[in-house]
Amino acid sequence: MNAHPQFAQSTQANMMALVYHGPGEPAFETHAKPEITAPTDAIVKIVKTTICGTDLHILKGDVATCAPGRILGHEGVGVIEAVGAAVTTFKSGDRVLISCITSCGKCPACRRQLYSHCENGGWILGNQIDGTQAEFVRIPYAETSLYPVVEGVDEEALVMLSDILPTGFECGVLNGKVQPGGTVAIVGSGPVGLAALLTAQFYTPAEIIMIDLDGKRLEIATRFGATAVVNSADGHAVDAVMALTQGRGVDTAIEAVGIPATFEICENIVAPGGVVANIGVHGHPVSLSLERLWDRNIAITTRLVDTVSTPMLLNSLKAKRIDPKLLITHHFKLADILKAYDTFGHAAETGALKVIIEA
Ligand SMILES: NC(=O)c1ccc[n+]([C@@H]2O[C@H](COP(=O)([O-])OP(=O)(O)OC[C@H]3O[C@@H](n4cnc5c(N)ncnc54)[C@H](O)[C@@H]3O)[C@@H](O)[C@H]2O)c1
Ligand SMILES: [Zn+2]
Ligand SMILES: [Zn+2]
Repeated sequence: MNAHPQFAQSTQANMMALVYHGPGEPAFETHAKPEITAPTDAIVKIVKTTICGTDLHILKGDVATCAPGRILGHEGVGVIEAVGAAVTTFKSGDRVLISCITSCGKCPACRRQLYSHCENGGWILGNQIDGTQAEFVRIPYAETSLYPVVEGVDEEALVMLSDILPTGFECGVLNGKVQPGGTVAIVGSGPVGLAALLTAQFYTPAEIIMIDLDGKRLEIATRFGATAVVNSADGHAVDAVMALTQGRGVDTAIEAVGIPATFEICENIVAPGGVVANIGVHGHPVSLSLERLWDRNIAITTRLVDTVSTPMLLNSLKAKRIDPKLLITHHFKLADILKAYDTFGHAAETGALKVIIEA
């Protein structure tokens, strides 16, 4: 009996999406359109999304939790297409910012604002559940994982608030206790390090030294407000930072790369009483020179972004106190997303920072 033509139609709906098929195998292909599976879900039609360095890590096979068949992407802005019965704060047609972190708002971790460790969410989008590099995405716990788009805010700038702005700010600036008149060094001048540079300036530190191997990225850092830049290609970044700080070192050393060499630079440039704030995702052990550091009254912090600062960053964006649009270098249509990956993946040649993909 074909008594339910409507049902048959809804299960057959398809869309286009960027699907991870295993290391080195992204594919842009037809995929089933997501549907509401829990009353707390929303289906969001993607308007703009982007690619993160972490997506490149997945494509290298570095992220074991992400299985082949997964739609990638954990950033974006969209329009609510449908909400589950329990969603009362959003309705179809609302424009929303998608957080890279899914939070239920109710578990013990969420009650401590440790959304990244939500027992029912955390970083699952584009990792353990299908993500935003598609025409539609299902967002669990929509009320606490989406933010309403404030009228008049640039939607491309907004995409930077899904992940990299809160990451640079929470893991780097807040954990690093950046203060007025303080000295800051940020190792890594990629999108995340640059987001830390932009948001560190909320606190008017006296000096912000940016360190990278890529001269083009250091030029951008200077335009974004760095007071000094150090090219570490010659292996003398520590000496250069010590010279710039009259031998004291920096109050805040932010690691925004994710390799042993850059964490070691931070260990060597942190001043007594300072903080090493790690942002980078590390795949290898790092040596800790406690024999030198034990008496220096320092702190070392680590953090997976919680996106607790998103409402504050939205206010700052609305008030034009930050301009995250500076990070956007390229634009693509969703149909050209493989080209976008290629451009983003060859940043040294293409000069790419963040790419905007329009669905
Ligand atoms: N903790 C979190 O919640 C979180 C969230 C998002 C991203 N991340 C991580 O943050 C890190 C930075 O992200 P991104 O997107 O900016 O990455 P990216 O790869 O675009 O930037 C890294 C920068 O580091 C530079 N670099 C590489 N080796 C260096 C060296 N030896 N010395 C100095 N500079 C060096 C590169 O030239 C590049 O500009 C990554 O590890 C990413 O996975 C962490
Ligand atoms: Zn990311
Ligand atoms: Zn939770």
